[in-house]
Amino acid sequence: MKSTRRPEVIIVADERALAETAARRLLARVMHPNARAAVCLTGGSGPEGLYRLLAQEPCRSALPWDRVHWFMGDDRFVPADDALSNMRMARRAFLDRVDINPANIHPIATDAASPQAAAELYEAELRRFYGAGGLRASRPLFDLVLMGLGADGHTASLFPHAPALHENARWAVAVAKAGLEPFVPRVTLTFPVLASTREMLFLVGGRDKRDVLTRVLAGDDLPAGQARSDGDLVWLVDRAAAPEESHAS
Ligand code: 6PG
Repeated sequence: MKSTRRPEVIIVADERALAETAARRLLARVMHPNARAAVCLTGGSGPEGLYRLLAQEPCRSALPWDRVHWFMGDDRFVPADDALSNMRMARRAFLDRVDINPANIHPIATDAASPQAAAELYEAELRRFYGAGGLRASRPLFDLVLMGLGADGHTASLFPHAPALHENARWAVAVAKAGLEPFVPRVTLTFPVLASTREMLFLVGGRDKRDVLTRVLAGDDLPAGQARSDGDLVWLVDRAAAPEESHAS
């Protein structure tokens, strides 16, 4: 699966600028007059700065909290209060710090009988939210999908060589074996569902991401490079993570 459009790469000074730029883009994406907006969150270290900003002024007052629904692109199959939980991280960073209708938060049910059962439940929830029928590019499921980049090139819980990379029918799948730490089972949305967005925004910061980011942007066959978007596809990176040649100018 290839990106339908050329990705835009935006390089900012540092982690702080990364979080601020992401917050501005998120606000712009949810500020439409429709009754509901939907944001798909991600785990990992990349989005934490952004999440904290969302609960602080000026974002706190600017966000239409009653209209925005928060989903999770992937989660680790651990109890909701486990330190490894992506949703726990998002809750602690911002969702628990604002006045928000609990019905607007859509966690993956990691207390289900199995990762497979949790994936099925999440798919059913997303389908309900979207309404009847299959996904149409003209009516994306999400307004914004946030993505991270792992050291091995994975994104969401879509790891190199995993069968989940080629899943086109299901909206969410169980990942029995993670390709990278933490080695716990996961549940992940699939590429076609993540693609159903007005904007997919990768957040990549820090020197330790530079090598893998260089490979992805050069077109190496890595999961993050396979991600596509029905809308815009943006890589927001800080200078430490930016490929060598972008430092030359
Ligand atoms: C997860 C994440 C994952 C993450 C990358 C990058 O559950 O692990 O959703 O896809 O975005 O692993 O994470 P770091 O920024 O912590 O390296």
